[in-house]
Amino acid sequence: MKPIVIDPGLFIQNRARLAQLLPAKALAILNANDIMPTNADGTMGHLQNADLFYLTGIHQEETILVLAPQAYDAKHREILFLRKPNELLTTWEGHKLSQEEATRISGIQNVQWLENFPVIFRQLMCEMEHVFLNTNEHYRAMSEVGSRDSRFIRQCQERYPLHHYHRLARLLYELRVLKAPAEVDMIRQACDLTGRGFRRILQFVKPGVNECEIEAEFAHEFIRHRGCFAYPPIIAAGANNCILHYNQNDQPCRKGQLVLLDVAAGYGNFMSDLTRTIPVSGRFTKRQKQVYEAVLRVFRGVVKAMTPGKTIFDLRQETEELTTGECLRLGLLTPDEVRKQDPNQPAVRKYFMHGVSHPIGLDVHDVLYVTQKIQAGWVLTCEPAIYIKEEGFGVRLENTIALTEKGPVDLMASIPIEADEIEALMNA
Ligand code: GLY
Ligand code: MN
Ligand code: MN
Repeated sequence: MKPIVIDPGLFIQNRARLAQLLPAKALAILNANDIMPTNADGTMGHLQNADLFYLTGIHQEETILVLAPQAYDAKHREILFLRKPNELLTTWEGHKLSQEEATRISGIQNVQWLENFPVIFRQLMCEMEHVFLNTNEHYRAMSEVGSRDSRFIRQCQERYPLHHYHRLARLLYELRVLKAPAEVDMIRQACDLTGRGFRRILQFVKPGVNECEIEAEFAHEFIRHRGCFAYPPIIAAGANNCILHYNQNDQPCRKGQLVLLDVAAGYGNFMSDLTRTIPVSGRFTKRQKQVYEAVLRVFRGVVKAMTPGKTIFDLRQETEELTTGECLRLGLLTPDEVRKQDPNQPAVRKYFMHGVSHPIGLDVHDVLYVTQKIQAGWVLTCEPAIYIKEEGFGVRLENTIALTEKGPVDLMASIPIEADEIEALMNA
């Protein structure tokens, strides 16, 4: 992830919003993510903890943030702890943040070296009663590995067993799901970069190209503009496009097939999410176009239905109802099958078996509690699909949508989605 300059006002505001949710005599501590090992002496590189980034804008490893908004000593109310640069670090790893640079990025005035953490932390613990610690509570996360935060929780509770401990995630998820205008602007920039990549490959895809060559074209466009893949890309031609998490991306694309592209850019820590399904030879067959148009109608219906007060499960149910209608028209379901269906397992799930929407922001599947109701300020994806294994193809379409007071705004409105426009661009 290449850092992009962001106004520190965003991080100052995010900390102020969190401070309002903390009770009296409380402190919150967040740790950077570990550098994850691979094999031998390999690593996966450093990806900052999104919660820490949300509150500081700092990318650097080993960073710790301590917030104690009501601390007696004003200097203790916000403290950032950083690795102290030294000659050896500079020689091997390059530049590390100075205290002044960290203040410029985060707006935090008190930046300390990590060696001072134990003493200052002890002073604060002696003053405070409530301790908010960070955990990953994403409802789909099933991680079996520890983290700097999880190790810190154990140490802290061992050393200070009589404090009141709380889940910081509960507060942060409430905050992070509501995007500030500056965040929406960053997501929009990620969407624009995704659009550049997609337009590039429309000129590139033709019979005989391999899925991995399409991946390389996207990578070229994203990286040269300081972006990255927001998630491992799915480039699935022919029957592979019915495999939901296909990411082998190494098969040839053949004449007459559709290729599904679930590929999008991340930019400056903010993500976008796009799916398009395009004809390898530049023209949809009649049947492919029928299915494509059906999914596009569902897409438009669901975007319109993204109104405040619903949960993402409500949206899924509405999508299933719209998709059922389309599957009846396409001859995939019979009225009798629909009449007799188990409401908990509607017949349409044979052709559309995943959720239709998730929040997006610093994470692709951004944090939320699933019972939260959508509202203006959220950014969501809309991703309906119809997969017809027996016909050897599926169609999924996906855009990134901002919810505003005036209704949903498609941040990918300028990325071609009409079948005719895609054909025209592929044959230009
Ligand atoms: N690209 C991941 C998703 O669509 O949810
Ligand atoms: Mn998605
Ligand atoms: Mn996607």
